[in-house]
Amino acid sequence: MRCLITSMKGGVGKSSISYNLAVHLGCICITNDLTVPQHDDIIQIPTGKNRIPKGLTSLDSAVFDFGAMSTMLDKKISHALQLCDLVIIPTRIDARSLEATLETYKLVKEAGKPIVIIINHFRDWKKHDAARDHLLSKLGNRVPILAIRETTLFDRVSRDGREWLLNIHNDRGAHMLSRTQRAHEVVYDRIQSMAGV
Ligand SMILES: Nc1ncnc2c1ncn2[C@@H]1O[C@H](COP(=O)(O)OP(=O)(O)OP(=O)(O)O)[C@@H](O)[C@H]1O
Ligand SMILES: [Mg+2]
Repeated sequence: MRCLITSMKGGVGKSSISYNLAVHLGCICITNDLTVPQHDDIIQIPTGKNRIPKGLTSLDSAVFDFGAMSTMLDKKISHALQLCDLVIIPTRIDARSLEATLETYKLVKEAGKPIVIIINHFRDWKKHDAARDHLLSKLGNRVPILAIRETTLFDRVSRDGREWLLNIHNDRGAHMLSRTQRAHEVVYDRIQSMAGV
């Protein structure tokens, strides 16, 4: 599966979800975020490049972590949009993030790819429900909405990398994180089934 994770809003979890999904799928993560920690399985595309480099366009499986900075999709994002089987828009629950999510949806829907929204990084399920209701009131049932709660798992994975995550069940000190990871796997499996690949 080739998947584009994007949003016009910063800090909503694009890079975190991208990397964790890439580990789950066993593929690389391609990012335009030059601040992500360097791992062997993350490829950073320098700012200023308009296209995704040739060697990366023919991969069967990849996750593109491409933040969009303006009200226009830049050329690299449009290119990833053409290549991908599915688009994920992560959002937080605050009003600005939800607004940016709706704007991002409008921009990417033209490509006709399946779109999934992930309400990410929240603590309170009631606030999650209110954010979800807001999105549903604007979008109807057209877009599946999944959820990933606040967790320390992402920081741990960004520090310790793929091998640690793949062996999380062997880490006795990470029992709760291992449970969180299993919950995330359910989300990632649903995304895969929506991509229809
Ligand atoms: N579900 C979550 N629980 C806890 N922390 C989270 C969660 N999702 C993201 N974060 C944290 O929020 C911060 C922003 O996340 P991340 O860098 O993935 O967002 P981003 O959309 O890629 O941001 P940017 O636009 O700057 O590239 C990071 O410190 C990350 O660890
Ligand atoms: Mg990022």
